[in-house]
Amino acid sequence: MKIAVTGKGGVGKTTLAGGLARLLADEGYNVVAVDADPDANLASSLGIPMEDMADVVPIADMKELVAERTGSKPGTFGTYFKMNPKVDDLPEALSKVHAGVRLLVMGTVKEGGGGCVCPESVMLKALLQHLLLARDDVVILDMEAGLEHLGRGTAKAVDAMVVVIEPGMRSMQTAETIRKLASDLNVQRIFVVLNKVQGPDEEEVMKSRLDGLPYLGSISYNQSIRRSDLEGTSPYDADPAFVDEVRAIKDRLFRELGREA
Ligand SMILES: Nc1ncnc2c1ncn2[C@@H]1O[C@H](COP(=O)(O)OP(=O)(O)OP(=O)(O)O)[C@@H](O)[C@H]1O
Ligand SMILES: [Mg+2]
Repeated sequence: MKIAVTGKGGVGKTTLAGGLARLLADEGYNVVAVDADPDANLASSLGIPMEDMADVVPIADMKELVAERTGSKPGTFGTYFKMNPKVDDLPEALSKVHAGVRLLVMGTVKEGGGGCVCPESVMLKALLQHLLLARDDVVILDMEAGLEHLGRGTAKAVDAMVVVIEPGMRSMQTAETIRKLASDLNVQRIFVVLNKVQGPDEEEVMKSRLDGLPYLGSISYNQSIRRSDLEGTSPYDADPAFVDEVRAIKDRLFRELGREA
């Protein structure tokens, strides 16, 4: 099961991704959580103390490793390098394991103009493809804001794209936009989660705007989620109500995908 969590900035992608990863690990799945946001903060949502992350270097920044695996020389440009670097040992070697979740911090590659292909981006792509296609783990991807960052290869390989929205017209990517991007990217299945809901009326209004997009459930607006974020801890450890809501979302997702919940 490979799940990408996407949506606009600040809607709660990282909060949901962290919660889902922790829950699935508690349920006994092998979970790999992938932080694919340049502004990486999935670790704290998973409950990994900041001190434990001090030595973690995003994979895109591991210059020697990238050079070794791709056969490129760091700092040189325009030379040949391998398009199929060995990556199958990297999930084990480069991850932090916490509460049964294996976290990989991908980092980002600043590509030159004109869509140049550089060794770092080849490495990241190869690693992502490996995680999505060659392993049995449950993979949860915490994406950068905006659906358009999901590369075509990645989008096609995920089983479900979960789009987080929050109440309000402006903060909501319209159902139309979501559907169009998903179809452009060739995404298999697309689902919506409503976050920061205050009351049943709000949920009903938002649901009515989904125009047939499959809806998985909601997460209530919750001060303890905010507080956890400020403290750098996980809402999953702080608030059973949040855990229950994440569980309902996960059960629904699994049922929709034809899995035992
Ligand atoms: N249900 C909620 N109730 C209250 N606060 C929430 C809720 N969900 C998320 N937040 C808060 O909203 C902020 C954004 O959440 P989060 O980091 O999960 O969003 P994001 O979509 O990953 O953001 P970004 O686009 O910056 O990656 C955080 O401060 C978080 O604690
Ligand atoms: Mg985030």
